Amino acid sequence: MKRHITTPIYYASGSPHLGHAYTTLVATCLRRYAEMDDHEVILASGTDEHGQKIEQAATRADVPLLKFVEARSNEFASLWQSLALPIDLFTRTTAAHHQSVTVDLWQRMAANGDIYKGHYEGLYCVECEEYFTSGENCPVHRVPLQKFAEESYFFRLSAYQQRLIDHIKGHQNFIVPIARRNEVLALLTENTLRDLSISRTSTTWGIPVPGDNQHVMYVWIDALATYLSALGPLNSDRFAEYWPNTIHCIGKDILTFHAVYWPAILWSAGLTIPDSIVVNGWLTVEGRKIAKSDPATILDPVELTECVTVDGLLHYFLKSVNLGHDLDFRRDILIDVVNTDLANTIGNLYARYSGLMQRFYPGGFVVEAQPKNRLLDEVAVLSEQYLHDMESFSLTQASKCFLRIANLVNKDIQDVEPWRLPEGEALQQYLACLHHVLRDLAILGEPFVPVLMQKARGLIGSPEVARLSDIGVWQPHICSTESEVIFPRVEYST
Ligand code: MSP
Repeated sequence: MKRHITTPIYYASGSPHLGHAYTTLVATCLRRYAEMDDHEVILASGTDEHGQKIEQAATRADVPLLKFVEARSNEFASLWQSLALPIDLFTRTTAAHHQSVTVDLWQRMAANGDIYKGHYEGLYCVECEEYFTSGENCPVHRVPLQKFAEESYFFRLSAYQQRLIDHIKGHQNFIVPIARRNEVLALLTENTLRDLSISRTSTTWGIPVPGDNQHVMYVWIDALATYLSALGPLNSDRFAEYWPNTIHCIGKDILTFHAVYWPAILWSAGLTIPDSIVVNGWLTVEGRKIAKSDPATILDPVELTECVTVDGLLHYFLKSVNLGHDLDFRRDILIDVVNTDLANTIGNLYARYSGLMQRFYPGGFVVEAQPKNRLLDEVAVLSEQYLHDMESFSLTQASKCFLRIANLVNKDIQDVEPWRLPEGEALQQYLACLHHVLRDLAILGEPFVPVLMQKARGLIGSPEVARLSDIGVWQPHICSTESEVIFPRVEYST
């Protein structure tokens, strides 16, 4: 099966920061899980380069627009490369192939009778690129809203209200976590949707509306369309294979665009809508959202990952709050979590197993049939729970399950004291059970801490790619390599 996973496309108005890395890391976690489940995966990202917000940023920087967006876009692409994040497709909204797909999308909506010309008057936040109906300041950026009045094309969003409600109610995993789903349902059931203004005359920095060069498309239509254009023309094979199996990873501030406007646009154009929208909360620093407009909050993802590794950072993000809630970043807690869970719990567990093997059976041995063992049964139950959590995108719960298994096995070793067992069958059977659970564990942890898990699999002589279908499958050759530190402790001074 194919799986298409997306990050948002990031605004090319400023440099990337830790908040952007958060959403992208969550997407890579889902990617690895899908791959373990034998899916062929495309992970798509990119940059959002049109619209007034970008135009104003380039003017402020006194750099020609194209040059400005290219430099910012390159910063995002190189960040993902420096962090070795597996992004397959990186789409810029200024790319020619993107523009033609976006025009195709518009024409399909128009052909369906869903686009009409009108006049818009409202309060606008350029930072959000969004109209508000009331209020003096933008609730997100806290800047004064500007009064705009312009001729505009409209999309008949109102026609899709009931269909949206029905779809969300009928598909548990369409918006996750549940609190975010309820938020969208409340918005849809307590308000009457107004048609959406989808063109601008106040800027020329955008994709021209087909047949009317006075207007450019509203930047959010243009941006959302990258999810399609990344895969190719709407009639291409790759599009047909991947688009029906899409998961969007986003931050909570762009939920309405993805969970209300986007499905309605896709239905209007006769396309299927994504399977799931996975929403993360904000990363904050001392309670303030990490944002380029607040320089004191900016943290460099590269510096942090040099300190705790990419595995360490993702583990901290997933463990610290249930996905969808805000997380107040604390460097000291990050280091504590990484040392306690990865260096101590996981690292020591594998070191203990390989230490025992090197001491008693450095050449390995064979146990043909799986012994009956309480630890194996308990781990099997937790593995089931893990799978259930991953399928429902409860990443925090799944990562806790992974750690619970590691703690359980550590405790079992303490209780059993295998070094006191008589050498021979009893010791071999116990070590074989340990090998079995450590192999399962090194598969289950793959979505969260892939580099560490690869080292762990190497240490127990199972260097194969992690696959869900290998979980619980008995492997008769019990061996290990020399004990090594698979996750060194991180010092506070770094
Ligand atoms: N360009 C739009 C997205 C268009 S997608 C079709 C945009 N760009 S953004 O650069 O402002 O934000 C991109 C993503 O980064 C959003 O999901 C946003 O929530 C996320 N984050 C930006 N700052 C963040 C934090 N401080 N914390 C968590 N996520 C953050 O919106």
